[in-house]
Amino acid sequence: GSSRFTAAAANYLDERTKIGVAVKEFGRKVFPDHWSFLLGEVALYSFVVILLSGTFLTLFFQASMVETHYTGPYVPMKGVEMSVAMASTLDISFSVRGGLLMRHVHHWAALLFVASIGLHMLRIFFTGAFRKPRELNWVIGFVLFILAMAEGFTGYSLPDDVLSGNGLRIIDGIIKAIPVIGTYLSFFFFGGEFPGTAIVGRLYMLHIMVLPALVILFIALHLAFVVIHKHTQYPGPGKTQQNVVGFPVLPVYAAKAGGFFFIVFGVIVLIASFVGINPIWNYGPYDPSPVSAGTQPDWYIGFADGMLRLIPPGLETEWFGYTWSWNMLIPLGIIGIFIVLVMIYPFIEAWVTGDKREHHILDRPRNAPTRTAIGAAGVTFYAVMWAGASSDLMATHFQLSMEGVIHGLQALLILGPIFAYQVTKRICLALQKKDRSIALHGYESGRIVRMPGGEFIEVHKPLDEYESWQLVSYHDYAPLMLRPNDDGRIPFGKRLRAGFSRWFFEDRIVPPTQGEIEQGRHEGH
Ligand code: HEM
Ligand code: HEM
Repeated sequence: GSSRFTAAAANYLDERTKIGVAVKEFGRKVFPDHWSFLLGEVALYSFVVILLSGTFLTLFFQASMVETHYTGPYVPMKGVEMSVAMASTLDISFSVRGGLLMRHVHHWAALLFVASIGLHMLRIFFTGAFRKPRELNWVIGFVLFILAMAEGFTGYSLPDDVLSGNGLRIIDGIIKAIPVIGTYLSFFFFGGEFPGTAIVGRLYMLHIMVLPALVILFIALHLAFVVIHKHTQYPGPGKTQQNVVGFPVLPVYAAKAGGFFFIVFGVIVLIASFVGINPIWNYGPYDPSPVSAGTQPDWYIGFADGMLRLIPPGLETEWFGYTWSWNMLIPLGIIGIFIVLVMIYPFIEAWVTGDKREHHILDRPRNAPTRTAIGAAGVTFYAVMWAGASSDLMATHFQLSMEGVIHGLQALLILGPIFAYQVTKRICLALQKKDRSIALHGYESGRIVRMPGGEFIEVHKPLDEYESWQLVSYHDYAPLMLRPNDDGRIPFGKRLRAGFSRWFFEDRIVPPTQGEIEQGRHEGH
């Protein structure tokens, strides 16, 4: 049935456009099926929802900082002095039919977009999907992640309410902390003294033109690479490095994906209908004075806000007549290093393992214990930075001192990742040992049998081929060996690399061979 449908679709288009060959070719492409492969799709579909709702908002939003007085129907704000940007956002909320729903849809879709990208990235990381030949697609994806945060930040700044202004003020502080040129840069960026009258217009241009164009470009590249590389798959019988097991695009996958788009769309609209978000009429227009506890950015910017809070205050030096404000520069440096490390991780791992093979079969996380442990450490580091953004709320809710919370988080920022690394690595190794023993001896059945000689033994249930495959078929690695140069010496770079490699493969558990499995079966009988 599927091939007839594909042929008919190809034929229809071909008679009119001559692209039938491409359609046929693409229609036959096979996609593997696994729930974790849906995360990339959720990102894609929520972006479509963002485009639709964002376009609606542009019809009514006015990116102007000209002073005005609100005259709309929302009584508590009547006559309040504010910018045209804020007034037009209030109009969208209270006077435009469907406007509030669209604002909610746009904001919720943005949150889902960033969340799904983050989870998608974790899926790619923990299954090793970034390995050759997909390293570049990891980098392209990571650029998308950064672009998404930039989109979120610029969008959040547009309504020009108290939260918009506070966010921008932090950016202003960061820019001004850049040594020597900071003040000039800030004036350049804001078109004069902060907040000036230009910034909303400038961010608007970024938000609805430059950044979306880049996002669309990079998504196109990203998906082109997914098609070129073909999709990875989890290990299982019949799945090899050369094939892809799954459904063809036409009609099965296309129908499923199309349906899934409407589910994502529907869920966003459902949330947007029932749960309000960013009620700017409660906050009021931007004014530097009413900053209060609980002022927070959207969740995905929290890590940066938190990092700024976790650095001890008052670290400053005077050099060459300029102030070097380390309490701004150090957190920025740490965030910068963290971001670069994540972006180039595929290349670091390839260097450490010396692995030049292509990988189309995914790792189960436990079968790459060091990578999984590094991931857990990274997630912990991120989580503690993020918690930093809520330090004031933790202090007020749990009646703790602000200093106590900050000092606790500072300690966690360093100790947490180390602890997470060790625990995760041990758990992975233990799971691997369990798999190995199950593969060799079968499952424990709980059935105790008494032998003729009086001995009690537990009967083990043998595995079927599918289960056995999942447990034991994974790529094995070996640490890099040191080979001296021609002059018999081992240069420092080589020793460093070998050292990393030894650490990466520390306590490695070798998967059982087919022979060992056979023997295990035999003993079982
Ligand atoms: C695969 C979309 C961001 C790395 C995919 C797939 C889709 C997708 C639809 C195929 C299905 C799947 O495996 O989920 C997107 C969109 C993004 C985004 C719309 C953001 C706008 C990222 C990020 C990374 C990344 C942040 C990593 C840093 C990858 C890689 C693959 C992939 C390596 C190939 C996976 C494989 O074949 O197993 N992406 N992605 N993507 N994505 Fe993304
Ligand atoms: C506002 C996020 C793309 C048009 C916003 C807001 C956020 C946001 C968080 C603040 C909403 C609020 O008032 O509560 C994003 C993200 C995007 C994106 C993450 C892409 C990944 C777009 C695009 C358009 C657009 C492509 C236009 C086609 C607007 C407009 C506003 C806005 C006009 C101001 C109106 C308002 O604040 O309600 N955006 N946006 N956005 N966005 Fe976007």
